[in-house]
Amino acid sequence: MLLLKNVSNRSVNQFSSKILRFSTTIGALPEKDKSAHRNLNGNLGQPTSWTHPHLLKNGDIVPNIKVEEFKERRARLMQGIQKHSFNIEPTIKNHTVIIPSATKKYMSDKIPYVFRQNSEFFYLTGCLEPDSVLVMTIDESSQPTSTLFMRPKDKHAELWDGPRTGVDNSLELFGVEEAYPVSQFKTQIARKTNEKDHTVIWYDEHTSDQHHLSEIFRDSKTKRPLKSPATFLQSMRLFKSPAEIDLMRKTCKIASDAINEAMAESQPGFSEHHLFAMVDFKCRMNDASYLAYPPVVAGGNNATTIHYINNTQLVQSGDMVLMDAGCEYGGYTSDITRTWPINGEFTEPQRVLYDVILTLQKDLIGILLREGGENLDKLFETMCLRLGKYLKEVGLIAAHITNDQAIAKAAYAFCPHHVSHYLGMDVHDTPLMSRSMKLMPGMVCTVEPGIYIAKDRLDVPKEFRGIGIRIEDDVYIADSDRVEVLTADCIKERSSLESLLKSKRQ
Ligand code: GLY
Ligand code: MN
Ligand code: MN
Repeated sequence: MLLLKNVSNRSVNQFSSKILRFSTTIGALPEKDKSAHRNLNGNLGQPTSWTHPHLLKNGDIVPNIKVEEFKERRARLMQGIQKHSFNIEPTIKNHTVIIPSATKKYMSDKIPYVFRQNSEFFYLTGCLEPDSVLVMTIDESSQPTSTLFMRPKDKHAELWDGPRTGVDNSLELFGVEEAYPVSQFKTQIARKTNEKDHTVIWYDEHTSDQHHLSEIFRDSKTKRPLKSPATFLQSMRLFKSPAEIDLMRKTCKIASDAINEAMAESQPGFSEHHLFAMVDFKCRMNDASYLAYPPVVAGGNNATTIHYINNTQLVQSGDMVLMDAGCEYGGYTSDITRTWPINGEFTEPQRVLYDVILTLQKDLIGILLREGGENLDKLFETMCLRLGKYLKEVGLIAAHITNDQAIAKAAYAFCPHHVSHYLGMDVHDTPLMSRSMKLMPGMVCTVEPGIYIAKDRLDVPKEFRGIGIRIEDDVYIADSDRVEVLTADCIKERSSLESLLKSKRQ
C-alpha cells in the first residue's frame, strides 16, 4: 500500500517553493496586523486570528495549523497519486481530484443541524464553509494547482446565516491558486478535464454529501470513469504531523479533565442524562466544539449494551457507570471510557472485574510495538487470550478449557468488540487503513478492552451479572519504541479513582 507519510520540514519547504504560485503571507504576519489582509473583504465565514485572537494565534487558519501545512498536504496528495498511477499506467500524467465539503443538513423546515465539516475537505483546506468543492489538478509538470468552488457573497443569505467567506477571499485565506462560485463547477470542471488528454478523475461519489456533483459526472460531456482518492487521503491522515499531535493532546486533555470532574461530582440517584450533560458542559467550557459522538452513559446492566446511548435511566447506589465520551477540538477527537461505582465504593465482584480489565488494559498499552502488539489486529488477539486467562483465574471461564484458541474464543463472548481503532479527525479514523498494518510513529489509536455480562447471562455466577466495564485510552505512537498515552490524566488506577470519588462525597 502506498503510504503518503508526512515529509520532513526540509521537503515541506521544497514542496512549497515548487508549488506556491499564489504566495500568502498570513503565517508570517505580526499578530493582529489587519492592514496586511487588505485583500480580504468584509466579514469571513470562519474565525481568523485577527477577528478571534482568543481562538486562533499567529495566523493559524484553524487552531494550530497554518496555510503552509494545508498546501503541503495538497501537494503531497497530488504528487503521491501521480507517482502511484505512473507506476501502473505510465502514459497517464494528468489527474484531477475532487473533494466536496459537507452540505448543510436540516432537522426540519429551515432548522439546521449543527454543521460539521467533511474531514477530508477540512484536512486539505482548513475551510469551514458548507456546500463548497476543492478541485486539485496535476499534469506532466508535476506542479499541483488547487481551486476552490465557494458560495458567493450574498447579502440576503448572509442576513440569515451569517457571513460567507466568498470567492475572492478564499484565494488569500486558503492559499489556493484559483477560486470560482460553486455555480461554475460544471463548466470549469469540463474545461479542466477536456483541455488535457487522458485525465483521471478522482471523486468518491459514495461518500459525497453533494449528490448533485455525481449527476455532473453522469453528464455525457464530462463522463469519465471515476476513481476514489480515499485510500491515498487516509494513508496521509493515518500519520499525524506535529501540529496535529498537539491538537490530539489538547482534545484528549479536555476530555480527560471533564471525565475526572464528572466522576468526582457524580452521586447515586443522578440520571445518565445528568452525567451526559456534565461531561458535555465541562468539555465545552474548556473550548471543545462539542462532544465527538453521542456518549455512552450507562448505569448497571445498561453498560452491557455496547452502543447504549439512550442515557435515560437513574443510576442507583451499588451500580457502576460506564461513560464512553470524547470531544472535538480544532477538528480532532478524543475517545475515552471510564467505569466507576456511583457511590464511590466497589463491591467485591465489581472490584474483581475492574482489576482484570485495568490490568489487561495496562498490559496491552505496554505491549504496543512489541510482540503481540505490533499491529491492532495482533493486539486484539492478545486481548482475547489474556482476557481469557484472567477470567480463568477468577473462575469465569472453566478450568478445563486449556487450549489457547478455546480460551480466546470463550473470552470473546465477554468482549465481543475489537480492542482498538485509529483515532484522529474522525473517531473511527481512516477506516480503510488495515488494522494489520505495523504500528508506526505518527499513528494514534485507542486501547479499549472491556467485559460485558448481561443480567440474563445464566452461565456466569449471579454476583457477576449486570456488570459492564470498559477502560479506553488514546495512545500516540511517538517513536519506534515509545508510546505516549494522550489520556493519561484521566484517572483509572483503582486507588486513585477511590480517592477521587471520596473527595466530593465526604
Ligand atoms: N466511542 C466509540 C468507540 O470507542 O469506538
Ligand atoms: Mn474507541
Ligand atoms: Mn469510545
